[in-house]
Amino acid sequence: MVKKIMRNPTAFLSEEYRELVKKELDWKLRVLQGPSIPRCEVDGKQVLMLCSNNYLGLSTHPKVKEAAIKAIQTYGAGSGSVRPIAGTMDIHVELERRLAGFKHAEASLVYQTGFAANAGLIPQLVGEDDLIISDELNHGSIIDGVRLSHADRAVYKHTNMEDLERVLSEAEKHSSSYRRILIITDGVFSMDGDITPLDKIAKLGAEHGAIVYVDDAHGEGVLGEGGRGIVSHFKLNRRKVHVEMGTFSKAFGVVGGHISGSKDLVNFAYNKSRTWLLSGSHPPPVVAACTAAIDVLEKEPQHVKRLWDNTWYFKKTMKDLGFDVGNSQTPITPVIVGESGVAKKLSSRLFEEGVFALPIVFPMVAKDKARTRTMMNAQLTKEDLDFAISSFEKIGKELKII
Ligand SMILES: Cc1ncc(COP(=O)(O)O)c(C=O)c1O
Repeated sequence: MVKKIMRNPTAFLSEEYRELVKKELDWKLRVLQGPSIPRCEVDGKQVLMLCSNNYLGLSTHPKVKEAAIKAIQTYGAGSGSVRPIAGTMDIHVELERRLAGFKHAEASLVYQTGFAANAGLIPQLVGEDDLIISDELNHGSIIDGVRLSHADRAVYKHTNMEDLERVLSEAEKHSSSYRRILIITDGVFSMDGDITPLDKIAKLGAEHGAIVYVDDAHGEGVLGEGGRGIVSHFKLNRRKVHVEMGTFSKAFGVVGGHISGSKDLVNFAYNKSRTWLLSGSHPPPVVAACTAAIDVLEKEPQHVKRLWDNTWYFKKTMKDLGFDVGNSQTPITPVIVGESGVAKKLSSRLFEEGVFALPIVFPMVAKDKARTRTMMNAQLTKEDLDFAISSFEKIGKELKII
């Protein structure tokens, strides 16, 4: 007789959680008690926000809030369906028209989130007879999108164009030559704030007939003309960057993913991406707030300018004090300290002093590259920045980092 195994179906839940806690790899959630603004309340304490992706402060911009309120009054709180059935309202279509105009692209498509865009589109673009070539530090949503595809995979060293060229040449030698090749990369890397050499990638892509896909989550609202993103930053021909993916959850201050490119891309994407087809569409206030955020970016260039003024001031002053702020070329400013324990201590002491900036440790970054990551914001005043810098200086000395 076969011996029946007695299984505890859920024991692993607490076991694995305890293991995470033991290794200090669990997330301890900080709670924001009010809007995401520079002087905010977190866990009952007044702090200076230095870790929000709301780069331009648009989540609380009066025009953005007003648009959301009006849309609820006119259209209600929800859309009632997925986009392909009855969940496409005129405001969804208008948002896509406005986004394409902003990006100077033929067409755009809005997904529920950036994660859903990557997870939904990548596995449709490439399959069994194809190859995906990915930067080694790409975002988790790209990695999951790649995992959902049946294509072969190759990884090139971070932003290293010689290595990308090597992978492409090897791909050309592949016994049954690939039907399609997809090169995929983050535009701005969220842990280090460096920018991918998209001009060189586009050139190599064109030489090898590859699809070029950039995830510009941290570039839009930040790089390029009026915050139009990385394609604008490098003044690239749109026909050489086939998919420009992004998110409304960062500089636009709301939520939602999107892609921009050719009409063919958009027609293909919405007919094939399961995350788009099978998940409820954005509620009216979200859609209207996203459109209003585009409007603000088009009409009020001062926000992007202030973001960069703050970025250069903070980076320079921190560097002059002796901090290692890495090779960031964007408002993401890591303060690299080495050991995980030091990064954690730095962040917790900063919080005590009234500065909210999270530690980023292994496995998110290399073991000896632990850091406290700061994100600059257009709404920070000079006084806010000086407060942050003096807190870093005080604790940096205390912990013998500088
Ligand atoms: C590079 C990158 N891609 C995609 C995403 C996902 O975007 P969303 O928040 O819209 O799901 C993020 C957000 O963390 C990101 O940093």
